[in-house]
Amino acid sequence: MKAYHLNGHAGAASLVRADVSQPEPANGEVRIRVEAASLNYRDLLILDRAAQGELNGRVPLCDGVGVVDAIGADVVQWKVGDRVAASYFRDWISGPFKASYILSALGGNTLDGMLAEYVVLPATALVSVPAHLSSVEAATLPCAGVTAFHGLIARGGMGKGDTLLVQGTGGVALFGLQFAVALGARAIVISSSDEKLARAKALGGSILINYRDTPDWDAALMKATNGSGASHVLELGGPGTYDRSLRSVASGGKIVQIGVLTGFGPKPDLARLQWENADIIGVTVGSVEHFAAMNRFLTEHAIHPIVDRIYGFDEAPEAYAHLRTGSHFGKIVIKF
Ligand SMILES: NC(=O)c1ccc[n+]([C@@H]2O[C@H](COP(=O)([O-])OP(=O)(O)OC[C@H]3O[C@@H](n4cnc5c(N)ncnc54)[C@H](OP(=O)(O)O)[C@@H]3O)[C@@H](O)[C@H]2O)c1
Repeated sequence: MKAYHLNGHAGAASLVRADVSQPEPANGEVRIRVEAASLNYRDLLILDRAAQGELNGRVPLCDGVGVVDAIGADVVQWKVGDRVAASYFRDWISGPFKASYILSALGGNTLDGMLAEYVVLPATALVSVPAHLSSVEAATLPCAGVTAFHGLIARGGMGKGDTLLVQGTGGVALFGLQFAVALGARAIVISSSDEKLARAKALGGSILINYRDTPDWDAALMKATNGSGASHVLELGGPGTYDRSLRSVASGGKIVQIGVLTGFGPKPDLARLQWENADIIGVTVGSVEHFAAMNRFLTEHAIHPIVDRIYGFDEAPEAYAHLRTGSHFGKIVIKF
């Protein structure tokens, strides 16, 4: 079968095609014939680490959807032909997060990911794909969709009458926007591009701010909300946005801390949290249970993820290059 491997000796690209033997499922495992995979910002960070010579031989990408092709002994919940998606953390099935789960992220430090024609995973690490979604659409869900759902809905309790701020128009941001609109919450979108803001408006965004033209977007947000701010902030930028996120949060609001688009390690002045009685919710993707709950939500609200562009399996390096430009709106998918 064909797969991609990270390989630091391959130069800046660090992504090489490989012919490898098809994996066999052991007890409790399922083999999936992958139909589509999608890219996330984290995959650029991982590619850059691979270019330093780390992670040689690792199959990248955490997001993938396919059809069950073979099952090992003792697997009762799946049968050949079922359409399934892999959950981001192989080992986080339900309940609260444990630090040990970090090591079970697919396509990262320790485990192979989904950019291979066949993958084998434990039966417990999979979810059914919503019937109304194509495999290309469903491939966008495991990281970006689950992260937004876990932070904003499962933990953040976002609902009708709330106001959500999303930063940019990438994968996590647009899931947040779509979830807010489905729930009857108001969505504020900041973006580098007026054209992207127009598309966000068409999806239901109601306050649209270009952060290039309006660097003090937090002041503009406060003005547009008559001083009340955002009850929920999807904090995706990190150090470059965090202080403005703090200045944007409403009294009693929640900052869902997710992103590192401008770097790691925000060192914000947290005093405003105290004066506004606001909370920070830290999120790393989510569990199989969160994923299944999100799929019920997507089905109930007939939500289709926003796919920016679809690449072929042979075009995986081009898909990464497109993600790096930041010109995408929503998700970039590789169709096998
Ligand atoms: N904690 C977790 O578990 C978790 C899970 C998923 C993602 N993340 C993180 O969340 C962030 C978003 O991930 P993603 O995969 O959705 O990324 P993505 O699809 O690559 O989105 C990138 C977009 O973010 C916007 N952006 C970039 N810099 C910005 C800034 N300074 N202010 C506002 N918007 C900015 C741009 O949109 P415009 O062109 O519209 O401005 C850009 O196109 C990343 O940092 C990622 O690592 C964390």
